[in-house]
This record gives sequence, structure tokens and C-alpha cells, in this order.
Amino acid sequence: MGGDLGMEATRSPSAEKKSPSPVQVAGSDGGTESLGFGHDEGYADSSVESIEVEVWDHDSSYGDELQSMTTSLSSTAYHFVEEHGRTYHSYRQGRYKLPNDEIEADRLDIHHALVLAIMHGELNLAPIAGDIESAIDLGTGTGIWAMDFADAHPNTDLKANDLTPVQQHMVPPKLEFIVDDIEDEWLYEHTPFDYVHGRFLAGAILNWPRLIQQAYTCTKPLGWVEFQEWDTRIYSADGTLHPSHSLQTFHNITSDAHEKRGFDMSPGKKLQGWLRDAGFINIVAKRYVVPLGMWAKDKHYKTIGAYNFLQMKQAFEGIALGTLTQDGWTVEECQILAAKTLTDAKDPKIHSQYDFYVVYGQKPAG
Ligand SMILES: C[S@@+](CC[C@H](N)C(=O)[O-])C[C@H]1O[C@@H](n2cnc3c(N)ncnc32)[C@H](O)[C@@H]1O
Repeated sequence: MGGDLGMEATRSPSAEKKSPSPVQVAGSDGGTESLGFGHDEGYADSSVESIEVEVWDHDSSYGDELQSMTTSLSSTAYHFVEEHGRTYHSYRQGRYKLPNDEIEADRLDIHHALVLAIMHGELNLAPIAGDIESAIDLGTGTGIWAMDFADAHPNTDLKANDLTPVQQHMVPPKLEFIVDDIEDEWLYEHTPFDYVHGRFLAGAILNWPRLIQQAYTCTKPLGWVEFQEWDTRIYSADGTLHPSHSLQTFHNITSDAHEKRGFDMSPGKKLQGWLRDAGFINIVAKRYVVPLGMWAKDKHYKTIGAYNFLQMKQAFEGIALGTLTQDGWTVEECQILAAKTLTDAKDPKIHSQYDFYVVYGQKPAG
């Protein structure tokens, strides 16, 4: 991908497939910036007619000099931006609105446990062979999915990229973490992947159809692409979540603020169409209902509701700060809204839930 800062950085972690069914309620039934040196044909405004050549007084190729240049470019990505007591990525600063600090890293690790529980322990649903040569994880976050995938596929060359280098340094041998912008050009057309994976990128992507087209181009014939994605709009199936609840207000105004800036907050339900439009075949789309909180009677839904509560509890303030301060809200106003939202999220009388989607498709034979 354009602007790669190839780095060795990392952070490590920690059925049966059902179609969605209504969630039972406990008790209710009685029971383009560039880091490279791009040029533009016909660029007329150059003040430099010819570039003076440095005297290269040793035999080797660029080796050490290039290494030290790469290290310095990489290290700038580690100088995180601090705002309102949280830190944010610095490479392509401002591009993604949520923090990249320990609170967010913990949340993403809980979110990983949540998705594994939703998917009954599966890291992926696409029917990839165990011994695929290569795969990539887009917007890897803490890298927790990539670490698990690398352990399960030790012979697969796995790349995992993100705007922010918050991953562990001790990684399985064939896993490489890279700082990169996935909406930039990918440069993998000549070395395409057997499997492309992206999870929880709602609120991160400006142009989903383009991203999916890039994934298509960079997938081998008969290879698979899989997205595991939210519709971040909250709702209740039984009307117990009212428009007057802070929980509802929070989701409405933060999602609207994101969408105003071009980020799709409900990509999950659109993935099937986007994959079809890109040319994928054998597409499978699954929808999972995910409660917020422990209000469901069924043990599976109670468990995923608990995980979901734990990760959202850590997200409310970061989401409010990341989106609403840009619209003139004070930090205190964001914190009050986050606190009221948390109070609603803890209320077992409010049966709120989200939809989560897993969609995969295959690139046709060449
Ligand atoms: C909600 S997190 C999900 C992380 C990971 N996929 C997971 O499921 O645990 C979204 C991640 O996307 C990354 N991100 C956002 N925009 C990006 C971009 N344009 N290029 C690369 N990564 C991006 C963020 O830095 C963040 O780590």
C-alpha cells in the first residue's frame, strides 16, 4: 500500500452456527498525503532543475541509511497526539476519530472476545483452507485477531495494518504488522492474497465500495474476502428503548456526527451488495443480533450482552470526545452525556441491541 512504513510492531492478547433469532427477555415471559517521492507529469512549479548527487563513498547499497530513514519515519507514528486526556494516532492525524490508548486497547480486546462469542469461537467463516499462503487483516487495531489467526495458520504469511502502531513486538514468525492507511493505494496487485479480512471498521472507512474493489483486485482467483461488521445504530425490538433515553440520543448524535464527516456507521447490512458489485461470487451474509447488557434470558445472548456492555462502557466517553468536541461540545458536556448513556446501558428494563454482520465472498477463477 502506498506510504507503507514496514515495521515490526505488535501487541498480543489475551459450533455451531445459528441464524439470528429473536432475543428472549429475562423474566418477561414468566421466567492523499504521501510519505514517498511521487511526481506528477507536467509539474511546472519546480524550483530545482537537477538534484545534486551525494558522493557515495562506500560500496554497499543503501542498506543502513535506508534502514535508519525507515526507522525514523516509523517512529513518527509513535508520537501520539494527546487531547482531552486521551491519545490518538499521529500518522494521517485526525483521520480516525477514536483514541488509541490503553483504555481503547482494552476495549478492543474485550470486543475480540465478544465477536468470538457471537461467532461461536470461529475467527472466520469463509471456507479457507488451513494451509493458505497469504492473508491480510485490514485495520488490525491491537492485532488480537491477527495474532490468533497467525497461531491457527502458522504457515501463512500474514500482514496486518493500521494507522497506529499499538501492537505487540513479540509476534508469530510469519505475522508482520504495518503502519498504513487502508484507503490509500494498495500495492499488492502482483502478490495478491488468498484471504483478506477486515473487522469492526464502521466509523473508519470513507469509501467502502472502493475499499472492497481494492480487496477484490488484491485477492487471488478463488481466494476469499471476509468482513465482520456492525450496524452501529442501536434499537430495541420491543420498544423499551425510547427516543428520550440518553442511550438513544448518544447513538443518534454521535453517528450523525460521524456520518456528517463521510463515515458510514451501518456498513454491515450493505456489505453483501458491495461484494456483489465488486464481482465476488458465492457470497454468504449472516446477521447476528447482539444485546447490550445482560437482559436476555438465553445464556448465549446473556454472555454476548455482557461482553458488549463491557466494551461499550469503555467506548461511550471516547466516542463522544472524538466526535462531539469537533462540533463545539465541551469535554464536560461529552462526559455528562457518556455518564447518562452508561446509566441507561445498565438498566435491565431497556432491551437495546445492535446488528452484527459477517459477509464473505470468493473471487472467481481467473
Ligand atoms: C474499531 S477498531 C477495530 C480493530 C480490529 N479490526 C479489531 O476488530 O479488533 C478500528 C481500527 O481501524 C483503524 N483504522 C481506522 N482508519 C484506518 C485507515 N484508514 N487505515 C488503517 N487503519 C485504520 C483504527 O486505527 C483502529 O485500530
